[in-house]
Amino acid sequence: MLEIRNLTRTFGGVTAVQEVSFRIRAGTIHSVIGPNGAGKTTLFNLITGLYQPSSGQILLEGESIGGHPPDELARRGMSRTFQNLQICMNMSALENVMVGAHMRQNQGLLAGMARLGKLVRAERACAAECVELMNFVGVGRYVDADASQLPYGALKRLEIARALAAKPKLLLLDEPAAGLNHTETQEIDVLIKKVAAAGVTVVLVEHDMKLVMNISDHILVLNYGKKLAEGTAQEVRANPEVIAAYLGGAAAH
Ligand SMILES: Nc1ncnc2c1ncn2[C@@H]1O[C@H](COP(=O)(O)OP(=O)(O)O)[C@@H](O)[C@H]1O
Ligand SMILES: [Mg+2]
Repeated sequence: MLEIRNLTRTFGGVTAVQEVSFRIRAGTIHSVIGPNGAGKTTLFNLITGLYQPSSGQILLEGESIGGHPPDELARRGMSRTFQNLQICMNMSALENVMVGAHMRQNQGLLAGMARLGKLVRAERACAAECVELMNFVGVGRYVDADASQLPYGALKRLEIARALAAKPKLLLLDEPAAGLNHTETQEIDVLIKKVAAAGVTVVLVEHDMKLVMNISDHILVLNYGKKLAEGTAQEVRANPEVIAAYLGGAAAH
């Protein structure tokens, strides 16, 4: 699904991502872990086109996409959530999800006006699909609510619904469990597995080691922008360099 080759991004004197290479197989859950500042979000920003690579390649299903704009990548099947919530609080919860669906549609305004009846029907169908997605992620009770009325945990799920509304092949989740309590984290675990079971390839940045170890088919460990290790949860957990650099006592659990 995705191949990263020798990817590097510098900001002034800081090399946030350095010569990183890995592959993500379609249909798997792939996690990226590492301490704060390791380059995880930068890697997501490079993959989704928010940042231009300083060097290296990004291939989506074999085609080079490095530096292509985010809207094009969205239409090609890439979708994401953000470490810091990016929800429009002056819109309804449902409208936020519909924004995700519109990322993939490329309706010119004039073409739309010329077929207004069709457009209205399409909007209705889109709203119905987005209501379904809100049910799928477990926030169905907020269909008629303003986004500002939702508790934090529901907003994290709403972002996933919005990302799914773009009908992605590849979904990147940047810390979906950040700030959630134990129960909410377990529910996110179930949701991510459900998304993967529906055929979406998932790439996950997450600090909750229990969540990561539980759901990942493959784990990439970053440290100071470089790949420290990769493999299955068992392989990564047993890697002495990973234990020393990051997992510490948590590896024993
Ligand atoms: N837009 C930016 N401008 C300057 N430095 C940045 C920018 N984005 C990230 N960095 C730097 O790159 C490094 C990696 O950051 P980040 O990718 O956010 O790490 P992580 O998500 O693993 O915590 C940090 O040193 C950070 O300060
Ligand atoms: Mg980050």
